[in-house]
Amino acid sequence: MSKTFYVTTPLYYVNAAPHIGHSYTNIAADCLARYHRLKGEEVFLLTGTDEHGQKIEQAAKDAGLQPKAFVDQVVERFKALWQLLGISYDDFIRTTEARHVRVVQACLSRLHDEDKLLHATYQGWYCTPCETFWTTDELAARPGGASLVCPSCQRPLEAVNEEGWHLPLRQAQDWLRNFVRDHRTFIQPQTRYNEIASLLDQPLPEYLCITRPRQRVGWGIPVPFSEQHVTYVWFDALINYITVPGFGQDQARFSTLWPADVHLIGKDILRHHAIYWPIVLHALGLPDEAMPRMIFAHGWWKVGEQKMSKSLGNIVDPTVVITQLLKGQPHAADVYRYFLLREIPFGQDGTFSEEALMKRLESDLANDLGNLVHRTVSMIARYCQGKVPAPGPVGCAVDDEPLRQEALSLAARLDDAMQVLNFAQALEVIFQLVTHANRYIEVQAPWQLATTSSPTRLHTVLFVLTEIIRIVAISLEPFMPATSAAIWEQLGLGRTPRRLADTSRWAQLQAGQPLGKRDVLFPRSQTVAS
Ligand code: MSP
Repeated sequence: MSKTFYVTTPLYYVNAAPHIGHSYTNIAADCLARYHRLKGEEVFLLTGTDEHGQKIEQAAKDAGLQPKAFVDQVVERFKALWQLLGISYDDFIRTTEARHVRVVQACLSRLHDEDKLLHATYQGWYCTPCETFWTTDELAARPGGASLVCPSCQRPLEAVNEEGWHLPLRQAQDWLRNFVRDHRTFIQPQTRYNEIASLLDQPLPEYLCITRPRQRVGWGIPVPFSEQHVTYVWFDALINYITVPGFGQDQARFSTLWPADVHLIGKDILRHHAIYWPIVLHALGLPDEAMPRMIFAHGWWKVGEQKMSKSLGNIVDPTVVITQLLKGQPHAADVYRYFLLREIPFGQDGTFSEEALMKRLESDLANDLGNLVHRTVSMIARYCQGKVPAPGPVGCAVDDEPLRQEALSLAARLDDAMQVLNFAQALEVIFQLVTHANRYIEVQAPWQLATTSSPTRLHTVLFVLTEIIRIVAISLEPFMPATSAAIWEQLGLGRTPRRLADTSRWAQLQAGQPLGKRDVLFPRSQTVAS
């Protein structure tokens, strides 16, 4: 069986409701998965939740609930958001599920049985919000030298001195350094590659502690060979990427899914994915060919110049944006998806603001895309009884050729952008076509052609426009699935499948075919229901 395109998202901590940052990774992952499906590939998109550890245990305690009851509640908020956003995941894994616990324990036992773990005392620092160990040497090597705040989230660190089971890191350092150098696309984008390459030029900590003492952290996967310990939450969570493919359980399924084609993550969890994760896989005996193919770390959304935080009270809740700020928009979730994917190049940091969101809605979506569809469909209603007109003998004329060529070659430009996960660039090339189609309407002025005695030219122009809209609708599917479906309906294409390959074929619409019901895709705010 051929390899399935396997995309993963991080597993989100269920200590609080999801925010814009979580939605960003899932929208990007969904867009990538949909794009590959549109190309006709087998795709598997995995998301889920990270439900163990000290921080969740604490959050449950603060809520006055048992950890399991607490996570059962919060996980529903994530699922509801993914539904609202149209995230087309193939599986949702919770780290508290038996299927996951089994694989984590099997991995621990394997490492233990093969004598790969060391029992020792860890003396260093711990950041509970990030669930991350920091050794004194690592802190000292950071710009600014040793300080007692977490280098990643800047919150206070806790001194810990605890015995447990450790996985050697330094021993695998040469292997990893060579692997990273030989696989230049393993860590993306380039800035993140540089970050890891330079970390690997310094000595790594000797070991990573992969257990926590049960008396400090009760909420975790029991370590099969050590009653006093539970599994360190990052070891637990990372394993999810191989749990679902069936590592050690179902070899046939494992070989169709694994290795992951893309692990999508945020830049704050790069070290865990680009250093710990390959070292764990290597220790489990996976060969170089079975390492993940790409880890892509995106940037962070800020509000103004500030990081989002509970204490600043500036957390952007996607549900509020969609149901309140964008209230009355029939495709509000798509507007939000469009904004996140279009506003900043994937990999860089960005700033969320209501003004920027509204500006994108008004200019790109309502003025450009919405207008193109509305004007075209309305003119076909007025001049062609709402049916796809028959074009002139050649299907288009010299004047139409540049636009037709731009549309037929769109897939190639889209692919260039999507291969490097440049969603903003991909949307830009689609919207360039939209802009050119609007300009074509102005230049061709179908309303004037309608006054001439022969309808052929009018019909050709309107036919060219419907073909352009068909190509735009298909191309938009990964980014704005509901909008794409709505345009498809307006073209009267109903259940005809949308396939990327059909964007490089001209004249797929049949003359005489009735268009569907006309609708305004992005109503202006005055007309939005209040
Ligand atoms: N549970 C771990 C991941 C384990 S994966 C095996 C975790 N969870 S998290 O909920 O804290 O974060 C999940 C993702 O959300 C991370 O990729 C993180 O980068 C992303 N974001 C959190 N805040 C963000 C922004 N403000 N902006 C963009 N993404 C951010 O880490």
